[in-house]
Amino acid sequence: MTVHAIIGGTGLTQLEGLTLSAALNLDTPFGAPSAAILRGNYAGAEVLFLARHGHPHRLAPHRINYRANLWALKEAGAEAVIAVNAVGGIHPDMGTGHFCVPHQLIDYTSGRVNTFYEDDTQAVEHIEFADPYDAGLRAALCAALAAEGCAYSSQGVYGCTQGPRLETAAEIARMQRDGCDLVGMTGMPETGLARELGLPYACLALVVNPAAGLSSTPISMADIEQALRAGMDQVRATLARVLAGA
Ligand code: HPA
Repeated sequence: MTVHAIIGGTGLTQLEGLTLSAALNLDTPFGAPSAAILRGNYAGAEVLFLARHGHPHRLAPHRINYRANLWALKEAGAEAVIAVNAVGGIHPDMGTGHFCVPHQLIDYTSGRVNTFYEDDTQAVEHIEFADPYDAGLRAALCAALAAEGCAYSSQGVYGCTQGPRLETAAEIARMQRDGCDLVGMTGMPETGLARELGLPYACLALVVNPAAGLSSTPISMADIEQALRAGMDQVRATLARVLAGA
C-alpha cells in the first residue's frame, strides 16, 4: 500500500482523526521542516502528516523551508504527496467553497530556493515538468470529491504568487489573461521539489475567497477563516476516501 504524505495548508494544521504512532522531529541537509512529521493511521491507512506553515500556524508562504519539508517527508517514508491548499478563485466557476484539483500551474514567485540541485559539483538536472501533477492521484481526489458530493472542478491552472500580501486587481487580471483559474502562495516550489525527489504529487485546492478585484467587497481574513472552517470537514472526508482506497 502506498504511504501517502499529506501537507496541510492554512486551516489544516492538524489532521483530526489521525491515530498517532510517532511524531518525527527530523533534520535534513536543508534545515528543519515546518513541524514534526506525524505518522499514524488515518482511514485505515498509514499516513504521514506535515503542517506546511508549522503547528501552530506561524510561517508565511515565503518563509517555509520547502526543501526541508519534502526531503523530510521522503526520509520518513512518503511515496506520494497530497497537498491541501487554500486558494483565491479567479475563474467564474471557482466560487468560495468550490474545490479544484489543478492539472497545471504557473509560477510567479521570486527569490525562493526552488531546487535541490544547487551544488556546482552535481550534474545539471532539467527535470521533466510539463505535467506537474500526478494523474493517478488527481483521479483519486476527483473520485473522492464526487463521492462526497462536493462542488469541484477536475482541472484548473494554479498560479502561485510570492505573497505574503494579496495580489492587486491588475495582477489578477493579468493572471486571468495568462489562463490561471486559481491563485495561491504555496504551490511552488513545493510541487517542483516533489518532482525532483520523484514523489508523485497532487493538490487539493479549496477556494476561500474571490481573488483580488473580482468581488465588490475587499478580501477579509474573517471571510477566509469562515470559508476554511466550512470546507475542512469536506477536505478531511475527501482525504479519508483517497487513503482508504489507496
Ligand atoms: N491570493 C493568494 N493566495 C491566497 C488567496 C488569494 O486570494 N486566498 C488564499 N490564498
